[in-house]
Amino acid sequence: LSNGLALTPQMGWNSWNFFACNINETVIKETADALISTGLAKLGYNYVNIDDCWSEFFRDSKGQLVPDSKTFPSGIKSLADYVHAKGLKLGIYSDAGVFTCQVRPGSLFHESDDARLFASWGVDYLKYDNCFNLGIEPEKRYPPMRDALNATGRTIFYSLCEWGVNDPALWAGKVGNSWRTTDDINDSWASMTTIADLNDKWAAYAGPGGWNDPDMLEVGNGGMTYQEYRAHFSIWALMKAPLLIGCDVRNMTKETLEILSNEEVISVNQDPLGVQGRKVYAYGPDGCYQVWAGPLSGQRLVVVLWNRCSKTASITAKWSVLGLASSISVSIRDLWKHEIVSKNAVASFSARVDGHACEMYIFTPLSVTHSAS
Ligand code: GLA
Repeated sequence: LSNGLALTPQMGWNSWNFFACNINETVIKETADALISTGLAKLGYNYVNIDDCWSEFFRDSKGQLVPDSKTFPSGIKSLADYVHAKGLKLGIYSDAGVFTCQVRPGSLFHESDDARLFASWGVDYLKYDNCFNLGIEPEKRYPPMRDALNATGRTIFYSLCEWGVNDPALWAGKVGNSWRTTDDINDSWASMTTIADLNDKWAAYAGPGGWNDPDMLEVGNGGMTYQEYRAHFSIWALMKAPLLIGCDVRNMTKETLEILSNEEVISVNQDPLGVQGRKVYAYGPDGCYQVWAGPLSGQRLVVVLWNRCSKTASITAKWSVLGLASSISVSIRDLWKHEIVSKNAVASFSARVDGHACEMYIFTPLSVTHSAS
């Protein structure tokens, strides 16, 4: 969507994966505080997004949405003021149906009212879900909210949460700044890997202004190992996925913070070229030795060697699968070790990768090696 936003994938935090409906204004404020105190905000995580369950079960007598008076007694405007004062942005959630997934009022047929209300509160981001949609095509239900947001005059990031049901990559580029390509993620290796593969199919449709959304991060929620979370974060970054933290940032382990704060990995995600990396090669048992790669600005490449088997293995990326001439000499930087691991690799590069782990690199082509004559 050309509203000037999403030139790179959005970064921030969302309440759903960890808190579900257990949210309130204190949690949101403390999360904003924690994004600042942990340093995550200055790495780019600037959206603080409230998911489902922020509103009352009924609209008021004028037909307006009302924040839950028990959990958000100060209202959303005061929360927006709070996060804005910290240099952050506030996101909210509604649904392109008659109810949200947790059966709060939805915005279908109330698009203008709700968009105006969100804008009047100072909301910067809308996640727009797909429950209770009366069987109306998403292609018909999502554009009215785009137009309503646009008509408010406030610039609001528009995130479609359509779960990939009608192949949104094919039509949502003109509708939203990102679109979910799959069902909800859960905090498991099986879910994360399945979703990565499903999202990969739509790589060609992502770019500045509109991104494929394989759902929010589960890093730090406890259902995967350190190595699995590192792979989750690496692949989401390579796929130009939104980097929306889904854990309790007020209580993170050192490992969780280390993963989420890897600036070199974040810079892959935020690279101005904005091309989604892909699975370019898979071999070995059930194709579990995988090479994922994509172009970055400055003629560079990001390359991930991902071992989806459970035993340690050596994984090789041949220049041919990366689209490089085999004679090209490449300098290779390891984004998790934070060091150059090869100054002039030629033809292929291999590394030992633990089970369910990945290694992530930036390849900088140096020159064509000339044979002596
Ligand atoms: C759907 C969405 C989730 C979350 C919940 C909230 O399942 O896909 O991301 O927003 O609704 O109810």
